[in-house]
Amino acid sequence: MSFKQKYGPWAVIAGASEGTGREFARQIAAEGVNCILIARREAPLQELATELRGTGVECITASIDLAAPDAFTHIAQAVGEREIGLYVSNAGSDPNGSFFLDKNIEAWVDLVNRNVITSLRCCHHFGRAMRTRGRGGIILVGSGACYGSGPNLATYSGVKAFDLCFAEGLWAELEPHGVDVLNLVMTTTDTPALRTLLAEKGLPAPPNLASPTAVAKAGLDRLPFGPVHNFWLKDDEIGNVPSSAAQRRDRVKMIAQASKSVFGGKKEA
Ligand SMILES: NC(=O)c1ccc[n+]([C@@H]2O[C@H](COP(=O)([O-])OP(=O)(O)OC[C@H]3O[C@@H](n4cnc5c(N)ncnc54)[C@H](OP(=O)(O)O)[C@@H]3O)[C@@H](O)[C@H]2O)c1
Repeated sequence: MSFKQKYGPWAVIAGASEGTGREFARQIAAEGVNCILIARREAPLQELATELRGTGVECITASIDLAAPDAFTHIAQAVGEREIGLYVSNAGSDPNGSFFLDKNIEAWVDLVNRNVITSLRCCHHFGRAMRTRGRGGIILVGSGACYGSGPNLATYSGVKAFDLCFAEGLWAELEPHGVDVLNLVMTTTDTPALRTLLAEKGLPAPPNLASPTAVAKAGLDRLPFGPVHNFWLKDDEIGNVPSSAAQRRDRVKMIAQASKSVFGGKKEA
């Protein structure tokens, strides 16, 4: 199956107006897959849509705040009856960079709504249709913060850890149905959102930032080899994480076997 056959005819990219999301959209469109671009700012979405249409694909935009409680309703309306073969949950950085108690609680609730609730609803909605069709892909853009937390990272690490475990479980459930799931664990990457946060804190950009183009390429290349890809490491490399992607995959398979004694065999919906 070609990329387009497996992940087309339409992709939803949530958080597509800049950085890695924009690069995902460009690379997905280059494979001939039509794109639905979502972010809050309409102008950069329109600009990108014009660029992508120039490459021969169809493209629509939807200005939606993914942290809003009704975000999924608006996403479903924008998508309509289009067949979604690929869902990329990219929007997910923490614009606060702060101790938990030093921000209003609503800042953290927004983070959870955007990264967990809206993404969860999209995975359920698009994932069900993918499972029925027996093909498709879901990419959750993650972070090394998923492996452990520290000061300024409490909520962010929490939602990224959710992504990691959620992607692993979903991968185990959908892999037999021909649907790929990947948690793309990113390292520090040169995105406008990172530059804005650093500028607000008066900090210089750290050296060796990953490029959004390389990160998006790795995500699409590794999508068939989920559930986890650590961007800066090979599949069997442990590096500075608790276990390699290969070890995590093996662990999910081990849990799948072990859980049969509790849940029984595979249960179809
Ligand atoms: N950059 C890094 O160093 C780094 C490191 C590790 C992991 N990551 C992960 O990589 C992903 C992308 O990160 P990023 O640095 O590019 O920043 P980001 O803020 O997560 O992503 C930027 C994109 O998301 C959109 N977005 C943000 N909040 C939104 C909301 N509430 N509703 C709708 N769209 C929203 C932005 O567009 P609008 O502003 O137009 O809404 C923009 O298109 C995230 O999941 C992040 O956790 C990044």
